[in-house]
Amino acid sequence: MSELDGLKIPQHVSIILDGNGRWAKSKGMPRTYGHTMGAKNIEQICMDADDIGIKYLTVYAFSTENWNRPSSEVAALMRLLNFYLKTIGKKAMKNNMRMRIIGDREGLSDDIRRAIDDIEELTKNNTGLQFLIAINYGSRNEMIRAMKKMLADYKKGDFKEEELNEEKFASYLDT
Ligand code: IPE
Ligand code: MG
Repeated sequence: MSELDGLKIPQHVSIILDGNGRWAKSKGMPRTYGHTMGAKNIEQICMDADDIGIKYLTVYAFSTENWNRPSSEVAALMRLLNFYLKTIGKKAMKNNMRMRIIGDREGLSDDIRRAIDDIEELTKNNTGLQFLIAINYGSRNEMIRAMKKMLADYKKGDFKEEELNEEKFASYLDT
């Protein structure tokens, strides 16, 4: 932990996005306006987090449960994510920010998957704020995906049962 005015700054902060819809409604605007403005806010939060010495920031942007929302809202959120991933590169490079996306990519469109690969590749050597975005993320889902990959490698004979330890398991997780 670092310190700021005597305040202990944690290494890793995570944020669950919430209230976008209610915030927009209180302004007489559609829910999607709330999502757009929420996404803009994240940019400032990243800069502030970096300024005060936070190393890792995880933002939960779209959960596995969010697919249950009306299809028009899901579509709007996907468009926003796509736009965000495709346009954030310049700012990420300027701020030396490394970006990684955690979550199940299988459920995402090819276009968004490509945008994820591109932004991760572009920012991979940046050493400032490590910015993680959870998209289509669920912790059990992550563990199941890890176990499936591990099982496939085990069947191929990549490692022996005795070699399975925490470190090995961690290597199959999203980060
Ligand atoms: C968070 O805001 C954004 C996402 C989950 C994508 P909400 O959409 O949950 O907004 P409220 O909670 O309905 O106001
Ligand atoms: Mg909510």
